Amino acid sequence: MKRWNIAISGFGNVGWHVAQLLAERRVRYANLYGVDVRVTAVCGSDRGLYDPAGIEWEYLRECRKANGGLKLARMADAAFTGPSFIADCGADVLIEAGPTDFHTGEPALSYLTAALKQGMHAIVISKGALVHDYPGLAALASQQGGALKISGATAAALPTVDLCRYNLAGCEISELNGIFTGTANFVLHLMMEHNLSIAAATEEAQRLGIAEADPRFDLDGWDTACKLTILANAVFGCRLKLSDIAVSGITTSTVEVATWRQKGLVPRLVGSLTRASHGDVTAKVGCTLYPSDHPFAHVKGATKAIQVKSDDMGDLVVIGGKSDPRATAAAALKDFEHILARMV
Ligand SMILES: NC(=O)c1ccc[n+]([C@@H]2O[C@H](COP(=O)([O-])OP(=O)(O)OC[C@H]3O[C@@H](n4cnc5c(N)ncnc54)[C@H](OP(=O)(O)O)[C@@H]3O)[C@@H](O)[C@H]2O)c1
Repeated sequence: MKRWNIAISGFGNVGWHVAQLLAERRVRYANLYGVDVRVTAVCGSDRGLYDPAGIEWEYLRECRKANGGLKLARMADAAFTGPSFIADCGADVLIEAGPTDFHTGEPALSYLTAALKQGMHAIVISKGALVHDYPGLAALASQQGGALKISGATAAALPTVDLCRYNLAGCEISELNGIFTGTANFVLHLMMEHNLSIAAATEEAQRLGIAEADPRFDLDGWDTACKLTILANAVFGCRLKLSDIAVSGITTSTVEVATWRQKGLVPRLVGSLTRASHGDVTAKVGCTLYPSDHPFAHVKGATKAIQVKSDDMGDLVVIGGKSDPRATAAAALKDFEHILARMV
């Protein structure tokens, strides 16, 4: 049976779940695709694990972040991390699950560039490198014959890029709108339905582990803008930069709960892409008001949603998908199966 070796860069919450799901699905891959899938390398910021024969899940299971991660792993070594090690480790696929810096794209950009240059397939979960240079990475992948898959970075369990590329293949998409940031939707939901102030709603979201300690990236609209940048470039093939997007978030000055309630309007933090007939794409992020019978008005709590308008298949709305690390890992492995289906 043909071996498929997997390297995982970034072994925190999501990376660990990727390894767990790969172990759980090993028999599925063998039965369905006739391949023997093994994790041969995993790495964190300063050390990693490597075994060309495959690292047993029983060992990786103990390297969970809550237990100290790779830092406490007996066999972890400083030689087994970094972009050049991962590119040379003999893996067929890199699953990138590290931290994200959307200004520089690092450290993911270096890992992805090194792996793609080596002819590996790349499955990306962090957004930074894709925001920074999706077109460059896509061009490199295509030159080298590797796949570049990005579901994990583009709302994960909610299908976005796949909805456009697979389900609407061949259609012209004129508009895409998305509720892509669960935290922002949760805060708006609490404000509208439980009459909380922004500060109180944000505190509640933090208490429930939905919002980060610093929630500004989500509430100010930048998380949505990052996903929109990647989608614009991946779906519309344009070269949109984050700085091209008009971004406004949920702030005290933009929120008018009493007026919206009185008018029967429901606010959602939405990222929108519109393609004009001559091909130009415009992008914006901001609070959008919907009448109560619009599908987006029914997207409650930390749920995400996407609406796509196409010429020949009409409008589609998808709502839902979990937002936890296992669901994110599962979205990355959906990408992996699409690679297997194409290659074997
Ligand atoms: N959590 C989710 O549900 C979710 C959903 C969608 C997308 N994401 C994205 O997925 C990525 C991972 O999220 P997470 O929650 O798993 O984060 P996390 O728990 O903080 O894990 C990050 C991992 O990356 C490693 N890392 C840091 N610098 C590195 C470097 N230079 N080279 C290799 N590894 C490095 C860290 O290693 P050390 O421990 O050595 O620092 C750690 O193992 C993030 O970009 C996040 O935005 C997460």
